[in-house]
Amino acid sequence: MMRTVVVVGALLLGAGSAMAQQDLAVKQDNLMKAQGKSMYGVIFKMTKGAIPYDQAAVDAAIAQLEASVPTIPGAFATNPKENAHNAEYGASPKLWRNKADFDSKVPAVAKAIADVKGTIKDVASLKVAYDTIQEKCVGCHETYRLKLR
Ligand code: HEC
Repeated sequence: MMRTVVVVGALLLGAGSAMAQQDLAVKQDNLMKAQGKSMYGVIFKMTKGAIPYDQAAVDAAIAQLEASVPTIPGAFATNPKENAHNAEYGASPKLWRNKADFDSKVPAVAKAIADVKGTIKDVASLKVAYDTIQEKCVGCHETYRLKLR
């Protein structure tokens, strides 16, 4: 009886931590997806004329990025040791070996956002803003992001 309780308890604990790991991986992936939505779903599409220029939507996307980017180091504080199920991208193992270098990529993105904020008033200035920010997103992705599928 006692042994059954211990075994079941251990199984539940195991399942609990596997779930926590997946939750964390999903949380990290969702943070990036939200930034991708502002950056590619709104800003990039407007630069390509796929959706019409909309100042309020641009301002909201920039504000979202401005608030979200500084949360990257904290969101990636712990290694979930697995990828979010069905995710297209995951974190490289290098991230967890070089967390300080990973974190050091973030201020450049925040600065790029601050630099372009208030300068965007049409598609031409939006293109400049997009390139300025995107270069810094890539500055982290080229080392620390893996394409999974
Ligand atoms: C400090 C590093 C870092 C910075 C800066 C960074 N990212 Fe990421 N990004 C990652 C990592 C690591 C992943 C893969 C992990 C994941 O998706 O769970 C990722 C994944 C992504 C994905 C793919 C998500 C998916 O699975 O579909 C998008 C989109 C994305 N980032 C957008 C951005 C944008 C836009 C910026 C700039 C505003 C940015 N990222 C800045 C580290 C960073």
